[in-house]
Amino acid sequence: MLRSRHLLGLDGMQPGEITLLLDTARTFREILERPIKRVPTLQGKTVVNLFFEPSTRTRISFELAEKRMSADIVNFSASTSSVKKGESLIDTVKNIEAMKINMVVVRHSSPGAAHLLSKVIDANIINAGDGGHEHPTQALLDMMTIREKFGKLDGLTVALVGDISHSRVALSNIYGLTTMGARVLVCGPSTLIPRHIERLGVEVYHNIDDIIPRVDVMNILRLQLERQESGLFPSLREYHNYFGITPERLEKAEKPIMIMHPGPMNRGLEISSHVADSEHSVILEQVTNGIALRMAVLYLLSGGQSEIQ
Ligand code: CP
Repeated sequence: MLRSRHLLGLDGMQPGEITLLLDTARTFREILERPIKRVPTLQGKTVVNLFFEPSTRTRISFELAEKRMSADIVNFSASTSSVKKGESLIDTVKNIEAMKINMVVVRHSSPGAAHLLSKVIDANIINAGDGGHEHPTQALLDMMTIREKFGKLDGLTVALVGDISHSRVALSNIYGLTTMGARVLVCGPSTLIPRHIERLGVEVYHNIDDIIPRVDVMNILRLQLERQESGLFPSLREYHNYFGITPERLEKAEKPIMIMHPGPMNRGLEISSHVADSEHSVILEQVTNGIALRMAVLYLLSGGQSEIQ
């Protein structure tokens, strides 16, 4: 059982809870292979997808997960709502809740937005990314994809590469992977790695060529140009030269490295097209697993008692 009615982050989640989510997602992954990809599990439940920030993967993935489970869905977009007229987040969500909904999936630019909502409304809240804080379903689908390939998480060495400071994907991966016994390395320019991050149980590197011979998995993070202050690195070309993942760099590995990226990718910047499209890339498998993982989250948060058919 999950201890919380909400999924706000992976900070503090127990290994047994993560294992339950990943095992349940594996069951739902099988449903996605069927000719009729629909189960009645969330029939009668209404889910609101509340996106205050742009999203392609997470938004479509949640919507498909909800449809595959027969939920009623409402999609909310900040740009066409009364938020434009100055309505607060809490007022918006309280009004939506008054329409008798059951679950809210929320993406917001402010760290803590999902936590705040969980305090003021009764619906289950799922954090689909809150500013530079957490993106728990992305980290869970990343762990699902790694476990699918290696059969385990404990004992593996996983590198998170690039813009760690601005990355909610990085923070949720750090919480999740360290909880599950993986060794986590973070690598990037010192201006893009938070000070004292070692306290979260990770090792810090600034030279990508030092880590390539040691890792099983490399999760390459998007350079978040929209969240950057100026001057964090000299130029995009310089960043690519020092930290871009290219076939030439990966040749130094003794064994193939599993290549991941949460998307959206800046091709030719943090990752070359050759690497993104190579046989060792699981980037599109991450996307497919995302639907099953989000089905598992919805199922377990909604009570998760009924048999998965
Ligand atoms: N990985 C991820 O969160 O992608 P989107 O921003 O497209 O949802």
